[in-house]
Amino acid sequence: MALLEVRDLVVEFTLGDGRIARVVDGVDLDLDAGEALGLVGESGCGKTTTALAIARLLPANGRIARGTVRLDGQDLTALDDAAFRDRRWTDISVIFQGAMNALNPVRRVGDQVAEPILIHEPTTTREAARRRVAELFELVGISPDRLREYPHQFSGGMRQRVMIAMALACRPRLVIGDEPTTALDVMVQAQILELLERLRRELGLALILITHDLSVVAETCDRTLVMYAGRLAETGPVERLHGGPLHPYSLRLLRSVPDLSGERRLPAGIPGQPPSPESPVSGCRFHPRCDRAMAQCVTDVPVVRSFGEAHRVACHAVGEEGRLRPPGELPRIPSALAIAAASTSGVEVAVDADVLPVSADDLGVPPGDPREPPADRPVGVAGPPMPPVPPSVAPVRTTTDASAPTTDDLPRVDA
Ligand SMILES: Nc1ncnc2c1ncn2[C@@H]1O[C@H](COP(=O)(O)OP(=O)(O)OP(=O)(O)O)[C@@H](O)[C@H]1O
Ligand code: SF4
Ligand SMILES: [Mg+2]
Repeated sequence: MALLEVRDLVVEFTLGDGRIARVVDGVDLDLDAGEALGLVGESGCGKTTTALAIARLLPANGRIARGTVRLDGQDLTALDDAAFRDRRWTDISVIFQGAMNALNPVRRVGDQVAEPILIHEPTTTREAARRRVAELFELVGISPDRLREYPHQFSGGMRQRVMIAMALACRPRLVIGDEPTTALDVMVQAQILELLERLRRELGLALILITHDLSVVAETCDRTLVMYAGRLAETGPVERLHGGPLHPYSLRLLRSVPDLSGERRLPAGIPGQPPSPESPVSGCRFHPRCDRAMAQCVTDVPVVRSFGEAHRVACHAVGEEGRLRPPGELPRIPSALAIAAASTSGVEVAVDADVLPVSADDLGVPPGDPREPPADRPVGVAGPPMPPVPPSVAPVRTTTDASAPTTDDLPRVDA
């Protein structure tokens, strides 16, 4: 049995005007003890929300609307708040990004790291907790002499080490790192990631690493899970997914990374933006940006199918034999459907001159409807076949969503 088993996780936020935004939609995830899973996807695709739901740290307007989160077979969503508080930090802990915001500026760092120990292990004396904190500081590479200092006396990288020490304080079996190295310079990033990797090996921790950096996932994780617009796009062993992804979105993500070893060329990027959860796109949510989109992609949500051990993909263009069919082999999307897709997602749909226009009439779009295609502009999903995925990948970073929850929204240490 997997250590962590997430099934059909659905998370919804109630917006200011009372509308409901479904931000995570039916995500499945498995993690074995000692295993590392890299959770990737563009900004706003629901990575942090998935992590917060697993750790039951969703903001007040968020809720798990459906699904189960099992740790060692026990459904954590069924526990009441008090029962779950006993499991947080001891079973699951989270390393948040932005250590300065997560640490209390007016309390000594040693006291802050000791706090979860004293709360969750009431029989531990202050002196024993202090000794454990000193050990933890050594483990993460901070001199125990600095226990009595305040956060402002530490550099950004040191503060992040303090956060890691705090996450490990109650010896959890699962640690979730939500972009633990964002805002740190590359040297410190490398040190922190090495530290996490070492701790995982030495302590047998299971790790979910949320990052925009695919090269970090390739180097430090066993498996990758790619999310798009709140849904699982593809998941599989790192070598499989990074060496030969099947989902067009995974392919484009990997092609967005500069290839330092191969031919010099600009990274391809992915045109357009992911849809907002407030106005979701029908069918496959990637279809307005996908160079393989077919009519079926506009109407039908692709189911997640398995292709070999632990490799799962949700895409209509992947054949039963486990091959992503190239655009030339696929029926092209009718133009007015593409326009309808663009009008619902706000994404520019690329123009492909060799696509025959389909009239709005053919598709039952009434005259004057904003979705009616302009007469002089045949529209389809453009894009030549993509070159092979580079063998090595280097950092890729996208913007951080300012509206995403910050550590200010979260309790520092939950009693
Ligand atoms: N408290 C909230 N209320 C309403 N919507 C929210 C809330 N928190 C997050 N969202 C929305 O949920 C979506 C997913 O956000 P989330 O922070 O999980 O994305 P993310 O993948 O972690 O992005 P990033 O890479 O930028 O951190 C976004 O559209 C975000 O605006
Ligand atoms: S081919 Fe269709 S189902 Fe597959 S990613 Fe593109 S739009 Fe989605
Ligand atoms: Mg996030």
